[in-house]
Amino acid sequence: MCGIVGYTGTRQASDVLLTGLSRLEYRGYDSAGIAVQHDGAMQVICRTGRVAELRSSVEAVGAPGRCGIGHTRWATHGRPSEANAHPHTSCDGRIAVVHNGIIENFAEIRERLADQGHDLRSQTDSEVVAHLIEEAYPRAAAADDGDALVRAVSETLGHLAGSYALAVICDDEPGTIVCARKDSPLVVGLAKDGAYVASDVVAVLDATRDVVMLADGQIACCRPDGIACCMMQGDALAAVEPRTTHIDWDLDVAEKTGYPDFMLKEIHEQPRVIRDTLAGRLVGNSIHIDELELTAEELNLIDRVYIIACGTSYHAGLIAKNLIEGWARIPCEVEVASEFRYRDPIITPTTLVVAVSQSGETADTLAAIRDARVKGARVFGITNVIGSPVAREADGVIYTKANKEIAVASTKSFLGQVVSLTLLALVLAQAKGKMTSGHIRQLYTELANTAELVEQILADTEAIDEAARACTDAASALFIGRGMGAAVAHEGALKLKEISYLHAESYAAGEMKHGPIALIDEGFPVIAIATHSPVYDKVVSNLQEARARGAMIVAIATQDDEDISAHADHVIRIPKVRDAFSPIVASVPLQLFARSVALARGCDVDQPRNLAKSVTVE
Ligand code: M6R
Repeated sequence: MCGIVGYTGTRQASDVLLTGLSRLEYRGYDSAGIAVQHDGAMQVICRTGRVAELRSSVEAVGAPGRCGIGHTRWATHGRPSEANAHPHTSCDGRIAVVHNGIIENFAEIRERLADQGHDLRSQTDSEVVAHLIEEAYPRAAAADDGDALVRAVSETLGHLAGSYALAVICDDEPGTIVCARKDSPLVVGLAKDGAYVASDVVAVLDATRDVVMLADGQIACCRPDGIACCMMQGDALAAVEPRTTHIDWDLDVAEKTGYPDFMLKEIHEQPRVIRDTLAGRLVGNSIHIDELELTAEELNLIDRVYIIACGTSYHAGLIAKNLIEGWARIPCEVEVASEFRYRDPIITPTTLVVAVSQSGETADTLAAIRDARVKGARVFGITNVIGSPVAREADGVIYTKANKEIAVASTKSFLGQVVSLTLLALVLAQAKGKMTSGHIRQLYTELANTAELVEQILADTEAIDEAARACTDAASALFIGRGMGAAVAHEGALKLKEISYLHAESYAAGEMKHGPIALIDEGFPVIAIATHSPVYDKVVSNLQEARARGAMIVAIATQDDEDISAHADHVIRIPKVRDAFSPIVASVPLQLFARSVALARGCDVDQPRNLAKSVTVE
């Protein structure tokens, strides 16, 4: 949520900031702003709306200077407006701050600052930071050691409760950006032409591949010729050596590379994601996930699995539950992290908690991880972002190899999660002695083949587009399925509603007659996951019941299904795979279906309203 950029060096800062902000726009896009230093004075420009609007304003007025900070916002405190957009400044306008996270105690700080005569001009929690630094700066400057801004920021952090990534500039220290973070990501990129600050490496990739990922509690002082890092130790600051990580991603991750939108590009990357996620996992006839850091004996002792996640990642968990229970015969519960963290789940030292998060930043999932660890569980993370909080806080981690996902609607990382969780289910089945090595090899081979099958689906989308056209003007839609198909239905409905704003619900098909069937009238779209499975006949019965009441049926069915056309108005055919792998092939047409409907309804598929890619607030 919210994207931060900063630059100090030899280039025109506003160019760097605007380019960085447009790469970070997926993190929030209701308003944006920059602050640039020039000739000892600060120029702040903020606009509501997208970065493109900010760019027009900056180009119109000009913003010279070689040091600055910028922000693209996803509103939490205060509606999107110019006053609430970052950067926020001190009363005298000499200090500017951009913030990502939540300052939980901002109300009391704000009251105290107002009593002291500070002029707070926004409704945000973030603005107090600029005024606290303004208070601390004269005291810090008295030490006269050249580090006044670092000291003032560090004193300010002592007053803050909550989470933050911060970048701060001050006219008294031109060319210096001070950054700090707690529970919200921030990286500093080091290049020949200066230092770059960003919430995400994608914003700095065109300048440098060498980045310092700040650790929680670290403060970095960035100057054109390098950075110095320190940690707070009580009231003192202890210097720490910045640890540089080399990022070998291609810059293409941040570009559409000829696709009309990131969502379509990312959908098309899925065969590669499947292959990369599986690469090197089968050694001989057994599956290896060394990152689990559990011995075969420890794995064998696991007697309960919890999968905790939110949104699409939760749906990946629902799919995995079927595999873990079916193959490894271990009871597995899947729970949304925001519920798990406030319950008192039964956790013992032989419980494995699997936290699934594309971004690795989701606040509820992180809180659930911490809670599970306190209760003694072994916690394993599945995430797409190297060095993310989920990766750091879990006992072990699998990376989903999706590479950066920019579109807010999760597609390729979902498939990466499903494949990773499938591997986990195989490892557990192996450890429990529930499968022969021949069976494991056979399943792995079929799983690997799904990459090619997804390519086949992507090669011919005519039936998907036709079904989408039929649903474009609907007011609502129902997705139904059973077993694996129910989990796929939940994900299909989420994808459709989040990008097309068409109301969609999903149900286990057997539940229809217990209520939802009352919704059905003439032409009501029902999207049925009717793939080859042990419950195929039951799904067909359920869709017939809906059709008898006037529903327009869109069936996702296997290529060799000759009967389905008699029961459906539109059939989207997918290759036949065993039931365990059907979510991989059945989800792809639903992603394309949602995108087609959204485009036909004139929606922005990459940046849907009200959403942001990383949900770092509760
Ligand atoms: O980064 P995470 O996987 O933890 O995010 C969880 C959800 O916020 C996310 O899956 C959300 O539902 C997506 N917009 C779905 O497309």
